[in-house]
Amino acid sequence: EPTLGELAAAKGRYFGSATDNPELSDAPYVATLGREFNAITPGNAMKWDATEPQRGQFSFAKGDEIVALAQKNGQKVRGHTLVWHSQLPSWVSNGGFPAAELRSILQNHVTTVASHYKGQVMHWDVVNEPFNDDGTFRDSVFYSTLGQSYIADALRAARAADPGAKLYINDYNTDGIGAKSDAMYNLVKSLKSQGVPIDGVGFQGHLALQYGLPSQVQQNLQRFADLGVDVAITELDIRMVLPADSAKLSTQAAWYSDVTKACLAVSRCVGITVWDYTDKYSWIPGVFPGQGAALPYDENLAPKPAYAALRTALGGG
Ligand code: G3I
Repeated sequence: EPTLGELAAAKGRYFGSATDNPELSDAPYVATLGREFNAITPGNAMKWDATEPQRGQFSFAKGDEIVALAQKNGQKVRGHTLVWHSQLPSWVSNGGFPAAELRSILQNHVTTVASHYKGQVMHWDVVNEPFNDDGTFRDSVFYSTLGQSYIADALRAARAADPGAKLYINDYNTDGIGAKSDAMYNLVKSLKSQGVPIDGVGFQGHLALQYGLPSQVQQNLQRFADLGVDVAITELDIRMVLPADSAKLSTQAAWYSDVTKACLAVSRCVGITVWDYTDKYSWIPGVFPGQGAALPYDENLAPKPAYAALRTALGGG
């Protein structure tokens, strides 16, 4: 039986999972992670609070552990993430730095982290979640101090540090066509026209049964591809109001299939990543109490209907 990763590879794609360092002591978990997926995203290990907790003091132990595991398993790595408003150490978020100094802090962070992982990362989520849901720029410390130029600066620094990595901007609630994906579209178009290095757009895909499947996912991916960038589904999970039942699990399975087919229908959609693969380690219940069961494997690491649906959508038997 081919795995999800092998089925995706037969279509010229990858099928990945997020993972996190504390989970790596769970041997059955690690076995399935290594077998079923051909790409890994560190869920937390490469974020700013993990990699530069104090100014100029870099720490790569957690990220290195995940890169080493991926290399051992023959898996690609999606680097996540260089510049984000969240999980930002307080020395950055509360620093009150003047613009020139914050710009140099940002460039130094991107340069140092991307240089450390040079040649070992397939994609970098260089900028994560730059937009509000209405399509305006999120008022992060970077935007409020530097304006939108921080995005081009981060991309240029990442390109210089690791010319072989594909550079992405990644966001959520951009999966279908709407105000937020329109804003991302206009940003990417503008960056391309200015010659700023941008290779891909990540669509996180944090979906919820109670909100409905976003409309026109395939058309949305295609319009970005038509700008001359790759696209990827980077953090897919499909949560529900608990308890799960067979009807919800079968709708969830259908959505996993629909999203996969939308990606496969777009030649520049290079792969899909689930935001961890088992309900045992999902971020959802901690952030949305009363919701969960979002992933293709249950809390006991047993495959759910979504797993079979993914296999079928990827062309498996
Ligand atoms: O590092 C501390 C640790 O020292 C402490 O003992 C522990 C106790 O709770 O907390 C640890 O920090 C947690 C961190 O994950 C690392 O485990 C935070 O509380 C927790 O909030 C954090 O959650 C992460 C979340 O991003 C933060 O926004 C999730 O694991 C991670 O899956 C999630 O991932 C994000 C993507 O990066 C971007 N897109 C949305 C996605 C889901 O929120």
